[in-house]
Amino acid sequence: MAPQTLLCGRIASPEAPLRCAVLLSGSGSGMEALVRAQRTDRLSHVTTLVISNQSDAYGLERARQLNVHHVVVGHLDDGGQRLSREEHEHRLLAELEAHDIELIVLAGYMRLLSPVMLGRWSGRIVNIHPSLLPNFPGAHAHRDVLASKTQLSGCTVHMVDEGMDTGAVLAQATVPVFHDDTEASLSARVKIEEHRLYPQVLSWIATGRVTLTPNGVLLDGATPPRVC
Ligand code: GRF
Repeated sequence: MAPQTLLCGRIASPEAPLRCAVLLSGSGSGMEALVRAQRTDRLSHVTTLVISNQSDAYGLERARQLNVHHVVVGHLDDGGQRLSREEHEHRLLAELEAHDIELIVLAGYMRLLSPVMLGRWSGRIVNIHPSLLPNFPGAHAHRDVLASKTQLSGCTVHMVDEGMDTGAVLAQATVPVFHDDTEASLSARVKIEEHRLYPQVLSWIATGRVTLTPNGVLLDGATPPRVC
């Protein structure tokens, strides 16, 4: 049997929860739902750091209201020059290390990660995407779903690799698409599922149910995805 390693290296518990950093670029509703679930349900993971690459992201205000430590890691240096992707990620790495982070949770983070970040955090970065991957990757999932006339959409939690929404899928949840949906109405319906699914999958990771093997990721010893 192929060797297996725990995705996060240890089995966490409510007393010693997995320390997560949420990276976001916008509204942060997923981050808020995650933090609220962590606090009300005594989960085995905790959000100890929120990082935004956008200084005006509303997610920062949500983090402030939730009393979660939050920082901006922007794209300009002190002299106003734009940082390269690698320079920006070195700044992210410093924040993650300073806060003893164990898992990176992307929640509306609108940047692809380079080998700088992936090399250091390989297998310990997850993302949530508002479609049933591999269908409709990219930044305009709801628009593309509506244009396709499909009657089923949903959300996907997946491992992050160098591609755009291409990493191994861990779990999905589905929602119907109605003929009179707009991007806003579909997004709202999908977000209800996103806010339920993400804490659940992070609990699987934190409690050792997700393992990495040379052949890919396993959930409870079997090949995901799981539809929840
Ligand atoms: C979510 O739909 C998520 O799936 C996608 O970006 C959106 C972020 O929304 N990756 P919010 O910032 O959490 O409100």
